Amino acid sequence: MRKKIVAGNWKMNTLPAEGVELAKGVVAQRGEVCECVNFIVCPPFTHLAQVAEVLKGSTVELGAQNCAAEAKGAYTGEVAASMIAALGCKYVILGHSERRQYYGETSETLNKKMEQVYANGLTPIYCVGENLDEREAGNHFAVCKQQIEEVVFNLTEEQFKNLVIAYEPVWAIGTGKTATAEQAQEIHAYIREVLSSKFGAAAEECPILYGGSCKPSNAAEIFAKEDVDGGLIGGAALKAEDFIAIGKGFMA
Ligand code: PGA
Repeated sequence: MRKKIVAGNWKMNTLPAEGVELAKGVVAQRGEVCECVNFIVCPPFTHLAQVAEVLKGSTVELGAQNCAAEAKGAYTGEVAASMIAALGCKYVILGHSERRQYYGETSETLNKKMEQVYANGLTPIYCVGENLDEREAGNHFAVCKQQIEEVVFNLTEEQFKNLVIAYEPVWAIGTGKTATAEQAQEIHAYIREVLSSKFGAAAEECPILYGGSCKPSNAAEIFAKEDVDGGLIGGAALKAEDFIAIGKGFMA
């Protein structure tokens, strides 16, 4: 049985006090959803420590949205994987399309970040996905394959067992446009096939999340698909009620 995951990517939203309130809401309502669904929240760096306090004693886990490619030293403005691990993070989102697009993250950088993440006992949530032009040209399979081959294929078998993938079509992120459940299943199954070509049966255990305008009204249909193991949620993760309601999609 693959892990079921609903992860909230808060992006650059919430002030510390607002983040604390949001996390409290998630903890308070978490009991409405089966323990079999793993909830993760990924606040901005600035309030990871405060949110970690709120999550203590709950089953809601903590993740960061990014980390540095280097271990430590003269890298002004960067945050090391060891620092976020010390605050209680278990997960790190890596390779989100916004980071690839606005901050020039390449596979080369992401390989270094992966190394840091594993060296510090964290689990990466590695994002892949095509933009609109690539989808319209029918290149979405090739794009995802390349993003996986250039980074995930460098992992050891041991590291691969501790990996979450998020498929996020760039055209669906924050746009209100969602991939249909069929489109999601098609590419998730393909991604799993690519993973199994390298890692064999272990690919069956790798959670693959869908991301891109996932909300309470469409989560159940998308999560019902065989190769969709949950969601990476942006906008709808900023309201505890909606975030939890997305988790209920597994129970529908
Ligand atoms: P969205 O973002 O749910 O707001 O579309 C998803 C993401 O970018 O992780």
